[in-house]
Amino acid sequence: MEAPEIKTPLPGPKARAIIERDAHVVSPSYTRDYPLVIARGHGALVEDVDGNVFLDCAAGIAVNSTGVSHPDVVKAIADQAAKFIHMSGTDFYYEPQVRLAEELSAIVPIDGDVRSFFGNSGTEATEAALKLARYSTKRPNVIAFLGSFHGRSLGALALTSSKVVQRRGFGPLMPGVYHAPYPDPYRFNGSADACAEASLSFIRDQIFVNLTAPDEVAAIVVEPIQGEGGYITPPKAFLQGLRELTRQHGILLVLDEVQSGMGRTGRMFASEHFELRGDVVNIAKGIASGLPLGVTCARRDVMSWPPGAHASTFGGNPVACAAALTTIRLLKEQYVRNAEVVGEHLMNGLRALADKHALIGDVRGIGLMIGVELVRDRRTKERAPDERNAVIQSMFRRGVLILGAGRNAIRFAPPLVLTIEQADAALRIFDAAMAEVAHTVTANR
Ligand SMILES: Cc1ncc(COP(=O)(O)O)c(C=O)c1O
Repeated sequence: MEAPEIKTPLPGPKARAIIERDAHVVSPSYTRDYPLVIARGHGALVEDVDGNVFLDCAAGIAVNSTGVSHPDVVKAIADQAAKFIHMSGTDFYYEPQVRLAEELSAIVPIDGDVRSFFGNSGTEATEAALKLARYSTKRPNVIAFLGSFHGRSLGALALTSSKVVQRRGFGPLMPGVYHAPYPDPYRFNGSADACAEASLSFIRDQIFVNLTAPDEVAAIVVEPIQGEGGYITPPKAFLQGLRELTRQHGILLVLDEVQSGMGRTGRMFASEHFELRGDVVNIAKGIASGLPLGVTCARRDVMSWPPGAHASTFGGNPVACAAALTTIRLLKEQYVRNAEVVGEHLMNGLRALADKHALIGDVRGIGLMIGVELVRDRRTKERAPDERNAVIQSMFRRGVLILGAGRNAIRFAPPLVLTIEQADAALRIFDAAMAEVAHTVTANR
């Protein structure tokens, strides 16, 4: 496969037929930004059912950490499936689940002994963390951040505050959740420290004064880098300040590393860049290279609930555990480092393009978790959501799969196997798409 190589109008005839069938029988709540119908993939390349080959900068929403169907992961899955596919790790024992918990204890950013609870998704990891925090602290309330995404089940949705469409029509949500602003250094008028302090003081001087006493707060749940909300990297002082504040009040700090973890930022966990340790850490997405797995890791003394308090039939499925163990090995051996090296190359390339395209307001991120925010005016920072959407469409037509984040940012979240040459191809196509959109905007004025 050579990428990208677009041979048919998009969608091609086979893709079009499948999309028409989908419209009749599949939930319309799914957001499909463009009509990709995958047939197969390899590394960072994706071939659709009409034989078009795309360069993948989305990784199935930051999931395909080792690329599409890495042969080692496929083998681990097949080997485990041939032995047994399921036995329910909540009622019986099997070694892959124990080994994965041992592996995670060694790498997760939590001090001391660690225990793991296994579910099937990031959302389930959020639910487990919420229940665990309430159970362990005997406190009812939770603090989360505006723009955050933690899942869409009714408990997790009470924390999620990324887009109104995700909440509209589903209320009332779980009570006792308070939101503070997430620090956005690009949009804050002042220094990084002042930006961090503005968010921290909102918790200290408003939430704790006007809304809930700190001794009624079980947990503060935070993404070390905000994902769906716009790929926003906060100042280190913010995360450090949260750690201090939670310690001071006996509140659990829950780090949602669902999107930022498993090598994406060029470290195993984004928290490492901020010298941050949590009491609870949630992992999903990239952990099993695409098999469903969500894990809530916690300090051993925090995760001390009794048998029956929480469990899931499928959680910690042995095939998913086998995929995760191989994924972790591959990440350690090469792909975390690759994310660092190729991420820096991509970031430099995008920064260079910012000099050329006035629509680029900000380029930010770490490793292969990079956000590019588009604005109509660099001085006023007026958001450019239509232009952002047009760039995504143009990139698709040119053969690059990419997604938006927040109202007007583009996220580069490729598989961690992306090569320098593929990063260069993505940069060339992004450059061309930006020029096309800028030209259309000027022509329509
Ligand atoms: C930070 C974060 N937490 C939780 C979730 C929910 O994960 P899932 O879609 O696997 O339920 C997501 C999904 O995008 C996420 O980005």
